[in-house]
Amino acid sequence: MNWNLTDDQRMVRDMVREFVAAEVTPNAAEWDRDKRFPTEVFEKLGELGLFGMTVDEDNGGAGLDLSGYCLALEELARGDASTCVAISVTNSLFCAPLQRYGTAAQKARFLRPCAGGEWLGAFCLSEPEVGSDAAALKTSARRDGDDFVLTGAKAWVTNGAVCGAMLVFAVTDPDASRGRLSAFVVPADHPGVAIVHEEDKLGIRSSRTNQVAFDECRVPGEWMVGEEGQGLDVALRSLDGGRAGIAAQAVGIAHAALELTLSYVVERQAFGGPIGRFAGLQGELATMATHIRAARLLYLRAAWLRDHGEPDTMAASSAKLFASEMANRVSYQAVQMHGGYGYVTDYPVERLYRDARVTTIYEGTSEIQRLVIARQLIAAAG
Ligand code: CAA
Repeated sequence: MNWNLTDDQRMVRDMVREFVAAEVTPNAAEWDRDKRFPTEVFEKLGELGLFGMTVDEDNGGAGLDLSGYCLALEELARGDASTCVAISVTNSLFCAPLQRYGTAAQKARFLRPCAGGEWLGAFCLSEPEVGSDAAALKTSARRDGDDFVLTGAKAWVTNGAVCGAMLVFAVTDPDASRGRLSAFVVPADHPGVAIVHEEDKLGIRSSRTNQVAFDECRVPGEWMVGEEGQGLDVALRSLDGGRAGIAAQAVGIAHAALELTLSYVVERQAFGGPIGRFAGLQGELATMATHIRAARLLYLRAAWLRDHGEPDTMAASSAKLFASEMANRVSYQAVQMHGGYGYVTDYPVERLYRDARVTTIYEGTSEIQRLVIARQLIAAAG
């Protein structure tokens, strides 16, 4: 779809498409099977400027808008959803908040190297006992002179074991009802930070998902990102951008599933001809293609709103909700149309089906997206 894209958006999409076709798609099945994080490919992705796509050029980024960034994520996910999520978290949940809320010193020390491709970023919000109710997290950041001492456990941290630094959310004012949380940027090798667990997952198996422990982890006050008490705002604002990106990821997975299915139905013979001639399958294919296009327009709209400084919370949640549910349906149909071949690892739709599953869960479940959308609708009506 070239409709309405700027030259920059088209250029990044085509550049990523070409790279993915050459270096990612042919290897994704092997990485998934071996649960191998492909460090060598991330080095190249970093060199291509894909770690800090929306970071401004003064801070070492590519200076793209969110629409161009989301188009790039879709292309990555078409090849490999695992690669896509590692890039997505680095851009949306590490670089973007540092770009928006970081001080000049934080940008020089943490944003510039990440945007320049030296290392990936991570986002430590959820905890083993706190996920959807983000405001209720328990990790504490106790003030001690000019420092803060972080103690607690973080869960579901994409890139935890392979990042250079993390954005960590912790309680600075336990008694406050508002302003309870603050955000900190913390190097991954800082004393008191430990990777304590690696998740073994249904899908996105070559990405890293870790539990991270903070044990009396002393950080200087200058590493606080945003104001004291602004942590929830930093987290939710970042997640709005992240959710548009996860919608793009879901579209990429679904697009790949449709492409593979189209190739299959014109090749596969049954009852004297290719199975693609049957009306039942054609109806499903038409629905899949239409829903993919609709989801793409939803994420582009969410990104456009953010690029133009308009409120994007509801649009991002709508895009994420629709695209992630759609990717699950489309990849289900792709497996179904492949029959037995869809159920075995020789064919990639099996992986796409597993990879799609997480998109309705991370960066806010479908239930949370519905809650965000409904609250906005009711607030606008009232
Ligand atoms: N942007 C900025 N501020 C926002 C906001 C937004 N999108 N949404 C709400 N806020 C503000 C509100 O204005 C409010 O501020 P005040 O107190 O000053 O009025 C404050 O945040 C609290 O808002 P709510 O009353 O709506 O908060 P809540 O606690 O009732 O619900 C929620 C908030 C929407 C449920 C939120 O907690 C949420 O989105 N939860 C899901 C968390 C999530 O997505 N987690 C995924 C973790 S990342 C991940 O998946 C890991 C990975 O590595 C991929």
